[in-house]
Order: sequence, then structure tokens, then C-alpha cells
Amino acid sequence: MKKILDLISEEVQKGFEKAGYAPELGRVTISNRPDLCEYQCNGAMAGAKQYKKAPIMIANDVAAALAGSEVFSKVAAVAPGFLNLDVREAFLTSYLKGMESHAKFGLEMPKNPEKVIIDYGGPNIAKPLHVGHLRSAVIGESVKRILRYCGHEVIGDIHMGDWGQPLGLVITELREHQPDLIYFDESYTGEYPKEAPFTVSELEELYPTASKKSKEDEAYKARAMEVTYKMQSGVRGYRAIWKHILEVSVADLRKNYANLNVDFDLWKGESDVHDLIPDMVAYMKEEGYAHESEGALVVDVKEDTDTKEIPPCMILKSDGAALYNTTDLATILERMNTMHPDRLIYLTDKRQELYFEQVFRCARKTKLVTPKTRLDWIGFGTMNGKDGKPFKTRDGGVMRLDLLVKETTDEMYRKITENREMPEEEAKKTAKLIALSALKYGDLSNQASKDYAFDIERFTSFEGDTGPYILYTIVRIKSILAKFKEQGGSLAELELKDAGSGAEKALVMQLTAFNSAMEGACAEIAPHRICAYIYDLANAFNRFYHETKILAEEDNGKKEGLLALLVLTRDVLETCIDVLGFGAPERM
Ligand code: ARG
Repeated sequence: MKKILDLISEEVQKGFEKAGYAPELGRVTISNRPDLCEYQCNGAMAGAKQYKKAPIMIANDVAAALAGSEVFSKVAAVAPGFLNLDVREAFLTSYLKGMESHAKFGLEMPKNPEKVIIDYGGPNIAKPLHVGHLRSAVIGESVKRILRYCGHEVIGDIHMGDWGQPLGLVITELREHQPDLIYFDESYTGEYPKEAPFTVSELEELYPTASKKSKEDEAYKARAMEVTYKMQSGVRGYRAIWKHILEVSVADLRKNYANLNVDFDLWKGESDVHDLIPDMVAYMKEEGYAHESEGALVVDVKEDTDTKEIPPCMILKSDGAALYNTTDLATILERMNTMHPDRLIYLTDKRQELYFEQVFRCARKTKLVTPKTRLDWIGFGTMNGKDGKPFKTRDGGVMRLDLLVKETTDEMYRKITENREMPEEEAKKTAKLIALSALKYGDLSNQASKDYAFDIERFTSFEGDTGPYILYTIVRIKSILAKFKEQGGSLAELELKDAGSGAEKALVMQLTAFNSAMEGACAEIAPHRICAYIYDLANAFNRFYHETKILAEEDNGKKEGLLALLVLTRDVLETCIDVLGFGAPERM
């Protein structure tokens, strides 16, 4: 379906044309003075110069040309030359009926759907997830769902950090604790045990100790480098231990991400492209893209138009070791070869901006991607505490993600069991749903690139621009519909009636903007646009709810029309929260 603003604009454009002016002037926007009108057109102002006429004269001509329009109930030319527009209820209702019978509420599918790979999450194995990983997971999941809803083929890849120096450190520390493990006996040729010789919590303790020791103790650091080399070059026992680390970590990561309602199609990591690196490096040398610089191998990526210094992209260190970007480039190569995507989208924190600029330029220059491949990086800001500094636990440590989810869930549980009775099982499930809405909406309602303050009181509030407020609104609608059914009504037989005026019309207008909001969020990779849309929609609904008799309405036809409007509002809201990555309970 065409967007409502386009339809309205077309009508005004006809008016301009009929009155003898250029139709392009008839672009309509939502009114910024809703007290005066619903929509507005400022084209007469823009046309004044071209036609050497006072804008009000043009506006008067257009208003006259639009008399009798089926779209507008009011077209008023007001000084100095605005066109103030109100639309007919019947026009809105026919649009709404179109939405109701359309699988995606009027959202049109792209003519050329793209195949998109989203690289998000990016956890490092053998280390617990902390709040720093929250944003990548939450934003990435939502971007994936938005693009998918909008008709693209989207593949989410977790791209784990599972290969570098940190793994060497973890294995080194394990060897210090348990030197007699069979894995470290390089003369051993038998089978290795199936079970890992550690639990995930034991594993998580190794890295911090190892990292600290390697900074203080040169000999330890040298041992760790050797271990990294052994692991990467495939020494059996070291590879077997690495596999255990991967399995134990992945099992734990799966649990953690599932707990956040985050789901990846591919569980690949840096290790998956290790074997592609030698050929890729050889290719870059042969084609003359890479050259030696101070012993290292680099690709120059600066361009004449640069206003800041863009250093070369380093492919191999002087000791021949691959780097973070080598892996990213090899991953691009692998993705292009095996999946042929049209577009790659990466989510990381803002600090990796220059890094991705270098990697993307290098990928283009070395033709790892086609000239048409779209490469996008979304850098997100930091989640801060109320003090404006990066979010910490009460004792100043890094907050584990599972703990953050648990604390938010506990707070929600306290709130919902405070004033009402609910079976224990249901209360727990509901608390979890609302907590996720609080965390995710609190994050997603900000433009990704901005820092934001995590404020558990505000995020979990049922009032204001919060996830729980949105859920509360949905639950309110659900409970009215449930009551209607209890009274013997049937939702299947409801039919939309011509929209009334006031709050009802405002709600209808807000609903008709759905396809535009979704399309905008997709085009700009901007989940916050969905949040802004549903916040307005929830506000419009609640105003309507407070002003309108619904179940108590005596005119049955009218009542059914209102209930049909409720069903559509619920469906649009639930579709939107689903692309944000959370769901609503039946009651709360
Ligand atoms: N593991 C990385 C980190 O913790 C994030 C990975 C982001 N994705 C990528 N393709 N580089 O910083």
C-alpha cells in the first residue's frame, strides 16, 4: 500500500496542478500544530518566488481547486500561505481497512530484496558476557528483525572472538593449574576425553588471572605466546583443549542469549577463517595490494579526499602473525564466497569506527567485495550508570549480563506482586517479559550512536517512554478484548466503522503511519524510530481509551467498530515489539 502521506500529497498535488502550479509543490507533512489541523502543506510558500505571487494567493487558488475533494474535510489557506488540512474520516477508514486485510499492515515489500549478513553479538569465548555486550546483542537482534520484516533475507552471525591471544592465555593458565592433564603431553597419541576438564565458572576465572600475569611477567607472556602458536598451528592436545573451551563457552552463551531472546543463525567465529588467511595474504601480495612496511605487511587505504589520517590496514605483523583485521577480511572473503550477500552490517561499540573504515576500504580495494556490495557499520555508544560513567556493579566491578537481567527481573517481580495476586509461575514469567522490555526498550529508544544512562527505576516504570508502559498498553487492550469474549462476543466478526473524531481519529491517524515508520527504521537501520512510533501510538490509544466508552457502548455496531480498532492497535503494537525483540504477557 502507498503510504498515507503519499496519498494525501498526491491529492494536494492534483490541486496545485488544477490551479496551474507545479504539482511538486504539493508535498504534505503531518501538522506541527495539531490544534489547528491534521496535516499541512507549505508548497505555496515555496512557489511564491517562482510564480512572483504572494503565497496566500497561491494557497487560496489551491484551496479552491481542492473543494469537493474526497480526501479532505477541510482545506484552509491561512496567512502567510500555509494550507491547513483535515482529512475525511471515511478516507482514513478505507486506508485502515486496507491495512487490516494486508499481511503487513500496508507495508510494501522491496522490489529487489537484499541478502544481508548482520555481524553482531561478538562475544569473546572463555569470558563472561558483560553489559558491554548487551547493546550489540539488543540492537543487532532488532536490526535483523526489522530488515527481515521489511522483506530482506537476513542472516545473523555471532562472530565469536574464539581464536586469538586470549585463548592462548586461558590455556596457559589452565596448564599452570593442571600441568598433568593429558592434553599437555605432546607425546600422547590416544583419544582425548569427551568431557571438558573444567566447568564454565572455572573457565571464566582463568582469563582475568592470566591476563594480569602476562602483563607483569615476561616469561609467562612468552609461554602464552607459544601456547597460542601451538593452538593455532594445530598441535593436537592444544587444539583439543581449545575445542573444550569452545564447547563449554558456546553452551553457556546459547543459554545467555536465549535468556535475552536473541538468536543467531550462524555461530561462527574468528577460528573458522584461520585456514583462509595464507591464500588471502598471498593473493593480496600477488595483486600488488599489500606491501611491506617496517617488516609488517600492509595495504594502504588512505584516499585523496581524506580530511583525517587513515593509517594503512595491517595484514600481518612483523612476526608474521595475523591480526583482528586479517580475520575480519578473511571472514568477508568467506561470506562473499559462500553466501554471496548484497550487504554486510556490523555492530560494535563506537571505538571501532576507524578500524571498520580501514577494513571496509581494504576489502573494496582488494576486491574481496564487489563494487555494489554495501558495507555498513553501526557504532553504538556506552551504557552508563546514573553518574554518567560506564555502568558498574555496586562495588565498582564490571557487571555481568546475566546478573543485570536477573536484577531487573527481580525488580519487576517485586513490582507486579506488590499490588496483585498472581500464581507464582505466571508472576515469574511475566516479570521476565517485562524486564526484557525494560532493558531492550531502554536501550533501543535511544539513537544507537548516543551513550545512555541505565536507570533501573525509570526503565521499569509503567509510565513514560518505557518498555513496561508499552506492554501495559497492550495488556490493557488484551483485557478489554478478553472481557468482550467472556460476554459472548466474537473477535472474528468485528468490522471497522468510519472513524469518529477527536481521540479516536488521532488514534486512527497514528495507526496509518505504521508502514512509513517501519520503512524508515529499515532504511536508516534505526530501531529507535519504531520506539518513537509505538510510544506515540500507545499515547494515542490511552487518550482514546480514557475518553471513550468501549464495552459500555450501547450502539452495537459502533461498539464492534471500536473493538476492531482495538484489535488492529494490538496487532500493530505487537508486531512492533516483536521487531524490537520482546513480547507482551496476557495480563500484568
Ligand atoms: N569480539 C569483538 C570484541 O569483543 C567484537 C567483534 C565484532 N565483529 C567483528 N566482525 N569484528 O570487540
